[in-house]
Amino acid sequence: MKDKKITIVGLGYIGLPTAAVMARAGMEVLGYDLNRRVIDALNRGEIIIEEPGLSELVNEMVSSGRLKGISTLQESDVFIIAVPTPITEDKKADMSYVKSAAEDILPHLKPGNIVVLESTSPPGATEDIIVPILERSGLKIGDEVFVAHSPERVLPGRIIQELVENDRIIGGINPESTEIVKEVYRTFVDGEIYTTDSKTAEMCKLMENTFRDVNIALANELAILSENMGIDAWEVIKFANKHPRVNLHQPGPGVGGHCIAVDPWFVIENHPEGKLIRQARNINDGMPDKVMEKIQELVQSDEAKVAILGATYKPNVDDTRESPVLKLVEKLLQKTRLQVAIHDPHVDREVFPYSGRLYDQIEDAVKDADLIVLGVNHFEYSTLDFGLLGNLMKAKRLYDTRNYLNEKELVENGFQVTILGRGI
Ligand SMILES: NC(=O)c1ccc[n+]([C@@H]2O[C@H](COP(=O)([O-])OP(=O)(O)OC[C@H]3O[C@@H](n4cnc5c(N)ncnc54)[C@H](O)[C@@H]3O)[C@@H](O)[C@H]2O)c1
Repeated sequence: MKDKKITIVGLGYIGLPTAAVMARAGMEVLGYDLNRRVIDALNRGEIIIEEPGLSELVNEMVSSGRLKGISTLQESDVFIIAVPTPITEDKKADMSYVKSAAEDILPHLKPGNIVVLESTSPPGATEDIIVPILERSGLKIGDEVFVAHSPERVLPGRIIQELVENDRIIGGINPESTEIVKEVYRTFVDGEIYTTDSKTAEMCKLMENTFRDVNIALANELAILSENMGIDAWEVIKFANKHPRVNLHQPGPGVGGHCIAVDPWFVIENHPEGKLIRQARNINDGMPDKVMEKIQELVQSDEAKVAILGATYKPNVDDTRESPVLKLVEKLLQKTRLQVAIHDPHVDREVFPYSGRLYDQIEDAVKDADLIVLGVNHFEYSTLDFGLLGNLMKAKRLYDTRNYLNEKELVENGFQVTILGRGI
């Protein structure tokens, strides 16, 4: 396998690290992307995304001659597709990037080729979208060209290690495809490689994120019930999780990011019978509304100032895709007359949709505020001086949607503290 020429189609957070790791394993790797900036940077040995260790590895592999960027596809032994699969307005997978990647491969296809879809896709996509396009080559797909889905489950920030160490699933359109694609991944994966059919592999990836979404929805429902019943959901979670087979998740202001908030929709896009999954999505998507209602209840004035700390979809990252805090901001601006100030040390002002409301200094964001809302538990917020911040505010009120801050210290500094999910 190591003498095979590999082409990665789509050099983003998944494709580029995969290309670099395969080159490190000794293969000749070509990276193809529609974005010229990505290719130009790659051929200078540089990258345009942030991921620990990637810049050094790419530089080393480009210098070694084993990794090269190309802006026109050419013949190859293996094609790995890692293009985006975003969600449409009507909650369906946008497969247009995958289709166009397969169509671009088509003129270069030859007998013996291997095509792998890594993009997260609805069940059936490899057989129903990739195979019919490749069949237009006249080659017998499954006999002369081998096709499989191999989903990715790396954690941003640890992609290079996890690409090698994580267990992996390979699902071919037939057993021959599965076995040959397994050999490709064996060249650089140290984890176990489990084999199945392509539709099962697609469903596995989606269910991993759906599992998390449904469990977060259960925690959010517990939070809503607890508030109504006069119970502290956080105490329930702490003690229920002492059961050896229980792992209640944590509630919060909603679910964001490009995986957990998106992938469950791919499962049910053509399947209304997926009721629990849909309900979980709706519960999680309803959380920004719940937070808005609580804010309105707490501030006691239509024109109060609310300072929101944190805008990303999870702590300690700069990614705001599908962030529930941004949905909250949008709702506050559309449905209320409240003044909204935002602070987040991680977001990039250039691409932030509410940059006019974004303050670089937290003191400026909370000045004259009637309420602080902790939206994201960024590490930086664990060491804030609430004595100082409280003195800048009009009213010392704080709503912690993550149960993250030191309540005792806040109370000692005169704050009235409300915690999402605590009904007492
Ligand atoms: N990022 C993650 O943590 C992660 C984890 C698991 C799975 N995934 C899945 O992997 C896939 C890729 O995600 P990503 O985060 O790497 O995306 P990305 O947006 O970072 O990168 C995709 C790249 O593909 C390029 N591209 C788009 N259409 C193309 C085409 N037709 N031909 C060539 N290049 C094309 C884009 O220019 C871009 O550089 C998605 O399906 C995603 O859901 C991502």
